[in-house]
Amino acid sequence: MNNTYVAVVLAAGKGTRMRSNLPKVLHQVAGLPLMAHVLNALDDIPTAAAFVELRATLESHRPVVVVGYGAEHVAALFGQRCHYALQEEQLGTGHAVLMVREEVEALQPVPDTVLVCYGDPPLVSSEVLAKLLAEHRQRQATVTFLTGIANLPSDYGRVVRDEQGRVREIVEVKRATPEHLQGREVNSGVYCFERTWLWSELERLPRNPTGEYYLTDLIGIAGAQGWVVATVTGSLDETVGINNRVQLAEVEQLVRRRILEKHMLAGVTIIDPGSTYISAGVEIGMDTIILPGTTLSGPTRIGSNCRIGPYSTIEHSVIGDGCIVRQSVLEETTFEENVSIGPFGHCRPGAYLARGVRLGNFGEVKNSYIGPETDMHHFGYVGDATLGEKVNVGAGAITCNYDGVRKNRTIIGNGASIGSDTMLVAPVTIGEHAITGAGSVVKHDVPAGAVVAGVPARLLHVAQAVDTSSAEGSKKE
Ligand code: UD1
Ligand code: MG
Repeated sequence: MNNTYVAVVLAAGKGTRMRSNLPKVLHQVAGLPLMAHVLNALDDIPTAAAFVELRATLESHRPVVVVGYGAEHVAALFGQRCHYALQEEQLGTGHAVLMVREEVEALQPVPDTVLVCYGDPPLVSSEVLAKLLAEHRQRQATVTFLTGIANLPSDYGRVVRDEQGRVREIVEVKRATPEHLQGREVNSGVYCFERTWLWSELERLPRNPTGEYYLTDLIGIAGAQGWVVATVTGSLDETVGINNRVQLAEVEQLVRRRILEKHMLAGVTIIDPGSTYISAGVEIGMDTIILPGTTLSGPTRIGSNCRIGPYSTIEHSVIGDGCIVRQSVLEETTFEENVSIGPFGHCRPGAYLARGVRLGNFGEVKNSYIGPETDMHHFGYVGDATLGEKVNVGAGAITCNYDGVRKNRTIIGNGASIGSDTMLVAPVTIGEHAITGAGSVVKHDVPAGAVVAGVPARLLHVAQAVDTSSAEGSKKE
């Protein structure tokens, strides 16, 4: 039977220094909650280079998360991805870890190592976590923890070593002497503990004068008992825990820059990295160009050879190859290939534009399918509609989808031509190759090939051979 470890993530604190009602671990960096970054790093440990030697003999369990302040929000967000343990009263990090004891003891097989990670260091990497596990194993340590070299002043706990360089203790800032505060080696809040030792020491951990049980006190205790205390030192970035919004903004900058670099190195042109915001979880194909002022948030997939921006926002969308998005906003939208939109287009949730659709300025589409090569070049609204192939929607045409009580659908057949300023009062169906005259108010279904016009629209004739160029105001430019 292999040895196992379990990751325990502490996420019960309110995060007082954030000055927020939102639990701290749900504040976002690069579009993902702080804790999601930590969980991603934990998930990726088995793929880290430093884990290679451990792979054959060490396995992990699903992480256990300690929740407290805003517990229901945290649990709702991460669901089955973790087990949860409740810390009703936030009495400190030492107390928080003790809350998972039952959960951990119930795991099969019971893990040897408890990898404790705070929920607030979003840049912690799977590589450094794997190094920590490897060092812990190799040194047969009772506790191994991650340190960083911080810039001063810093609010992190200071690592105090003796003349031989052995760790003596971690001193929290609240208890630090001026001399301690000169120290730049800090605790980053990631530890491997030998499980049975952890429980027995946590049970008798003394309460600090601040009223809290500090997990960090265990370091001094282990050393004093003569057990091996090992450390791994990470880079400044990966060891920084977020306590306030200044740190949040600093880390955000860093992560954004990394994400942009990843895309650039993978073949995406980003004209102005300083004004481009791409969240984690966005995929972009090769030779796509991102113009200034563009925000892409995930999960979003953008194909290759697209031109996105300037000043465009795309959220939760899938954009096919060869699309053009200029000064537009897309939410929960799907574009097949070679679609173009903008300037100033808006696709709202459920917009599906098939290949070659052209949506011009001030067009809005919501919850609608627009068939291949359909044109809507000028301002207009298509909501709750299904449009066929090669439809032409004239300037200012509108689907009147809401009757004051419910939303109704509009269906427009292939090749139909909707004259400028037509009001399509839903529910209504426009047959294939039918034509509506400029300014018509269409309240009844229009048969295939028919021409209607007026207010309300009346049938003028049903064409044998349809001449779409006769629809006033609906000509393409
Ligand atoms: C802690 C460390 C400090 C270290 C720093 C690294 C202690 C006593 N101090 O300080 O040495 O340099 O992290 O970032 O551990 N939490 C709970 N329950 C609680 C209290 C906290 O779950 O009762 C959780 C928080 O949600 C957070 C994490 O533990 O995710 C750390 O708490 P935080 O208040 O940020 O500790 P720091 O003051 O940063
Ligand atoms: Mg912190």
